Amino acid sequence: MNKRFLDKVVIVTGSGSGIGQTTAERFAEEGAKVIIAELDKSTGKLVEENINKKNNQAKFIETDVSDFNSVNDMVNGAVKQFGSPDILINNAGINVFSEPLKMSDDEWKRAFSVDLDGVWYGCKAVLPFMLEKGKGSIVNISSVHGFQIIPNCFPYPVAKHGVIGLTRALAVDYAAKGIKINCISPGYTDTPILERFFSTKPDPEAARKEAEFRQPIRRMGTTTEIANTILFMSSDECNYMIGANIIVDGGITLKIHENEDTGAN
Ligand SMILES: NC(=O)c1ccc[n+]([C@@H]2O[C@H](COP(=O)([O-])OP(=O)(O)OC[C@H]3O[C@@H](n4cnc5c(N)ncnc54)[C@H](O)[C@@H]3O)[C@@H](O)[C@H]2O)c1
Repeated sequence: MNKRFLDKVVIVTGSGSGIGQTTAERFAEEGAKVIIAELDKSTGKLVEENINKKNNQAKFIETDVSDFNSVNDMVNGAVKQFGSPDILINNAGINVFSEPLKMSDDEWKRAFSVDLDGVWYGCKAVLPFMLEKGKGSIVNISSVHGFQIIPNCFPYPVAKHGVIGLTRALAVDYAAKGIKINCISPGYTDTPILERFFSTKPDPEAARKEAEFRQPIRRMGTTTEIANTILFMSSDECNYMIGANIIVDGGITLKIHENEDTGAN
């Protein structure tokens, strides 16, 4: 196994499940010391244990990304445990989908506190350590909702557009100081968040099949396919890329709409 991240200190938020979990596991396999910064104690601890069982290195630190003090304590804990962070993956996120005028103020705040404030708090807490080293890499997880609109998903896309904007703004401000900040926009990826989304539909299985058919690739992405892109963007193979947004979506956002004759070939 290629060890691109040997002894690098990597923080992955929301790594108790889905994309974050696979990303943490992949970093650990490639030699990194990984902080599992997760809200859910049981899943966070389990991911830590599974990584350590394979003789790789992980430490779970309970973290709520929507609370700056919690994020700051986690980063200080990471420094004590493994040393100053080299890489941060701002992955934690939640789906808040509502009809704009029916949405409560609390839902609006909940969406932004996790999906946008959480990304900023991660950057704000690690940047001083990265600046001290003169090197660092941050990858923020946006979504295809970060640049396209799917009806009835408000305000999730507003927050995810913000993640791309935040990435670009910080990337410019810190590039000359040796820090690269980029972003990934996954499309449909097979994770619990997606299961929860389909379970809100009258016929979840049919809704999933229809969504798969709309994908040019005719399937959902895997967490490994997203994690592989995250690892590439975090690595030194990617040092000329600043403020970029890599779209990993099986081609869905290349299309404007379906033609009538969808089964042509
Ligand atoms: N799965 C998809 O199809 C898809 C598509 C595009 C973008 N994304 C984005 O990818 C990221 C990961 O999503 P996923 O599909 O793996 O979801 P998931 O629900 O499987 O995992 C998200 C993790 O974040 C944690 N989390 C939630 N709130 C938190 C908080 N306040 N502090 C710390 N951790 C918290 C959850 O406990 C969970 O472990 C999210 O930002 C999501 O918006 C997912």
